[in-house]
Amino acid sequence: MTSKHLLKMSDLSQADILEILALADQMKFNRRHELTHRVLEGKTLGMIFTKASTRTRVSFETGMFQLGGHAINLTSADAQFGRGEPIEDTANVLSRYVDGIMIRTFAQQDADDFARYGSVPVINGLTDLEHPCQILADLMTIREHLGALAGLTVCWVGDGNNVCNSLITGALTCGMKMRVACPVGYDPHPDILNAAQKNPDFVLARDPREAAEGAHAVFTDVFASMGQEKDAQKRLADFAGFQVNMELLALSAENAIVQHCLPAHRGEEITAAAFAAHANEIYDEAENRLHAQKAVMALLMG
Ligand code: CP
Ligand code: NVA
Repeated sequence: MTSKHLLKMSDLSQADILEILALADQMKFNRRHELTHRVLEGKTLGMIFTKASTRTRVSFETGMFQLGGHAINLTSADAQFGRGEPIEDTANVLSRYVDGIMIRTFAQQDADDFARYGSVPVINGLTDLEHPCQILADLMTIREHLGALAGLTVCWVGDGNNVCNSLITGALTCGMKMRVACPVGYDPHPDILNAAQKNPDFVLARDPREAAEGAHAVFTDVFASMGQEKDAQKRLADFAGFQVNMELLALSAENAIVQHCLPAHRGEEITAAAFAAHANEIYDEAENRLHAQKAVMALLMG
């Protein structure tokens, strides 16, 4: 990896992504065969959470343990940053104790500031803008199920949110064709959209059927992300027709896979039937968070 941190998907070149995925595959193989891979012996990861998490929390903490290291969970409920201690001080001090910081929070600027003020690698575990660790796991899952990345068509149906932003950059970086179907007003972040629209492999559609036609991997995510709960009812109405269901999936390529970062709201962005038909791929995707993040930590902190 050429970057010291993983703050955004654009920190990674195609070669970086392929390096991470190759190591992630190795991590998965090792775990399946009970081979140890203790490259972070004696190292500690500080994990900062100002939003809820199941997968990110458990996969990072378990990943550190499996690599021979240790992880500390810090939440806004019980750490001083939750009482207003500046990031400058928190980042400076944590850098004197730990060997890496994972942060899940609202503003991307806060994650960027941890990298700016601290002296250890910082990994974005989700912000309002991006979720790069998720997309590394998703790319790993596509490759595992479909055997390739470059040349395949990825489709996103729903909110142009953090996961969508990172997917656009990640898929295009890997030479994939990326189609996004969002209702007007829910487009991806303008900077990411502007960069993507320079690439002929990118299409922004208003009709989910146009995006899903012949797609090899169909992605969706919740209509209201963390922090948007008060708009949930309005969003439910605004996203009418932007649901992944069996009818939409009938348009996708034969053997197309479905990806959902989870948690899922069955009956909203995805039907229970579509979820059940693709649950195996979705749970593989969740599992691959562990292997992909172990690869990232080994490369950044090893
Ligand atoms: N997909 C994901 O990041 O899940 P958590 O919110 O449970 O960490
Ligand atoms: N877009 C969702 C992803 C959760 C993992 C959110 O930000 O809440």
